[in-house]
Amino acid sequence: MIYRMPKRPERNEPCWCGSGKKYKNCHAAFDDRLLACQLRGIQIPPRKIIKTPEDIEGIKKSAVINIAVLDEVGKQIREGMTTQAIDDLVNEVTYGMGGTPADLHYQGFPKSVCTSVNEEVCHGIPSADVILKNGDIVNVDCSTILNGYYSDSSRMYMIGEVSEDKKKLVEVTRECVQIGLEQVIPWHTLGDMGSAVNAHAKANGYSVVREIGGHGCGKEFHEDPWVSYVSRAGEEMLMAPGMVFTIEPMVNMGTHRIVEDKKNGWTIRTADGKPSAQWEIQVLVTETGHEVLTW
Ligand code: MF3
Ligand code: CO
Repeated sequence: MIYRMPKRPERNEPCWCGSGKKYKNCHAAFDDRLLACQLRGIQIPPRKIIKTPEDIEGIKKSAVINIAVLDEVGKQIREGMTTQAIDDLVNEVTYGMGGTPADLHYQGFPKSVCTSVNEEVCHGIPSADVILKNGDIVNVDCSTILNGYYSDSSRMYMIGEVSEDKKKLVEVTRECVQIGLEQVIPWHTLGDMGSAVNAHAKANGYSVVREIGGHGCGKEFHEDPWVSYVSRAGEEMLMAPGMVFTIEPMVNMGTHRIVEDKKNGWTIRTADGKPSAQWEIQVLVTETGHEVLTW
């Protein structure tokens, strides 16, 4: 379905963004440019996902907690620790700083963070039965709410002595995010970013998960757009200033295919049992480039 831009204010009326400025001095040129892109067949962002300065401040404050949690996990994670202990730590730091873990009870998710070990691609459920061992690679995916604003990021942690091939997977996945980030340029498209991510993974002999992607993030956990990392340059939604979304490719050492855990209904694993890695950052598109909100 094609998004239709809502009625535009008159030039001297207040802007729709709530800045209090006259439309002609605020988002009028922005809207002109969106409509020109739409005429060229490019999908344009709905108004509701364009962040105001107040929204951006809100997300940044939430991000302070989100980053602090992952920093603390980095300090404490070690061989012999259970993934439940990571969940405990996420609760301690998040609540301690006045935030709420977004994962808890999200669509019935039972814990406060996702911990995905080795062949687990995402949505691993913390458990007292899962003990981290030497050589494991673990993704800790943390999402935080503060004053109604969401922040979302994830990092990889390596436990003890990790094999060279797993280390490379972790490192290349991080590079994929960096290379994707460099393509976050206003008025380019999400496909420019996603295709760059995919190309780097492929060049290293890896594959990128297709069915699960990134998302817009702000007053809701998962907002439009849905973000693919196997997309094509010039395709997908326009990246307009004021959009906030995640770059969070899941990169597999073997096949891109995945399977869902039938018993818990959450955990996604690689279909071939080979390792998978993911880093997630939250990025703001600015007038001149981008700003990383969480890493
Ligand atoms: N944090 C994940 C993301 O990056 C979503 C996890 S949802 C949960 O979008 F329910 F599994 F926690
Ligand atoms: Co996310």
